[in-house]
Amino acid sequence: MESFEAPTTIVDDIDVLKPDPQTYRPTELPEREDELSELHMALRPVTMGGTPHNCLIYGPTGQGKTVGVELKTRQLEVWATENEVDLTTVHVRCKGCDSSYHVLRQLVKDIREVRRGPGEDKPTGYQRKTLVEKVLEELEKIGGTIILVLDEIDAIGDDDYVLYELSRVDIDNVRLGLVGITNDLQFRSNLDADVRSSLGQREIHFSPYTAGDLKNILARRTVEALHDTYFDGDKELYRNLNSDVLTNDTIPLTAALSAQDTGDARQAIRLLRYACDIALEEDAEQIGEDHVRAAKSRIETQATKQGILSETVQRKAALTAVTEAVAEEQAPAGTTDLYRRYCRICEQIGLEKNSQNTFREKLNDLTHSNLLVKNRHGRGRGKGMTNTYDLSIGLDLAVEGLEEDETWSYDEITEEIREKIE
Ligand SMILES: Nc1ncnc2c1ncn2[C@@H]1O[C@H](COP(=O)(O)OP(=O)(O)OP(=O)(O)O)[C@@H](O)[C@H]1O
Ligand SMILES: [Mg+2]
Repeated sequence: MESFEAPTTIVDDIDVLKPDPQTYRPTELPEREDELSELHMALRPVTMGGTPHNCLIYGPTGQGKTVGVELKTRQLEVWATENEVDLTTVHVRCKGCDSSYHVLRQLVKDIREVRRGPGEDKPTGYQRKTLVEKVLEELEKIGGTIILVLDEIDAIGDDDYVLYELSRVDIDNVRLGLVGITNDLQFRSNLDADVRSSLGQREIHFSPYTAGDLKNILARRTVEALHDTYFDGDKELYRNLNSDVLTNDTIPLTAALSAQDTGDARQAIRLLRYACDIALEEDAEQIGEDHVRAAKSRIETQATKQGILSETVQRKAALTAVTEAVAEEQAPAGTTDLYRRYCRICEQIGLEKNSQNTFREKLNDLTHSNLLVKNRHGRGRGKGMTNTYDLSIGLDLAVEGLEEDETWSYDEITEEIREKIE
């Protein structure tokens, strides 16, 4: 039997390489010094017995918005305790709350939990106006200065009722500051003008990390996560990093690949973690460039499979038709040929057939999901244009993606395609 014993050569604390804030929270974010100092200024009235400014924080995914705001509000709470200032912060994750109504239910729950500890249920069966009243009651019971962080607030789409109500809160013993966080840059401009001017009293933009930033972020993580990895001197910068378990190009390559994409720190940390997993699987003594490249391709493969999984059944049938054409070396294939394959597949699995026009739309949807590529060709002078389709992912990957999908468990079809490949 294989041993479950963790090899101790490379890893010290693998949890540090999980991007999940529940497992590891950075205690400093030097790359966000400027942004966090803007937030500091917005919240500073608290220290003078005043009301904090409302702010709207925006920037793409994985830019330290959530961890940054948590860090700053925690620092402020420590200060408030030391100085006997009555301050409470409430962090509300709005992800999955796709309307003001759902955010209000979450708010009541989260604010009650701040007062009474975990274990509260979300209220049910109330109209949103009543929920607003409940939120106000809860805020009044807490009293003093309250900072309400609404993370991933873009979940509410254009239903900004909750923001409208919260931005007008006027309770005698409460000084309320709102901090909205969003990675949807459009969200701000879609807000009602009153809400925008109230919530956006201060706006703080988190711009994407550069490769240099990511190198430093990764260096700090590896010092805690890996053995024999440390900084020379006081400055915790990549250039001062020494490691026996990382080759020289590991961190620069990880940072460069992530910076090239979106400068997302979460993605960079995840990539390094996968590289580390692969190195462990191989019992390697060091995490090298090859491990990073293998990790990148493993992540892309997973993302593609996930993409196939999330497609609708009709689109999966269309994708199967193209996959079959590729397996028979008949691709790029025209719509008529693909439609014929699709109809046969539908009959085989008992799926209702769409019209050829609707089928063509499904092919175009798959092109937008980057699973297919479409080409337009002239049919000759005056005869119009024709479209052909091909897989934009590897044939094996397409078949694997379709096979792995439990809701699409038509093994006979994927087996037939496999036979054609072999
Ligand atoms: N400057 C930094 N130093 C160290 N770790 C960082 C830094 N910025 C981000 N991270 C890490 O990257 C991950 C993503 O950060 P965070 O959750 O704050 O992103 P976000 O901007 O809120 O993204 P989203 O918009 O998707 O919610 C976390 O694991 C966090 O610890
Ligand atoms: Mg976040």
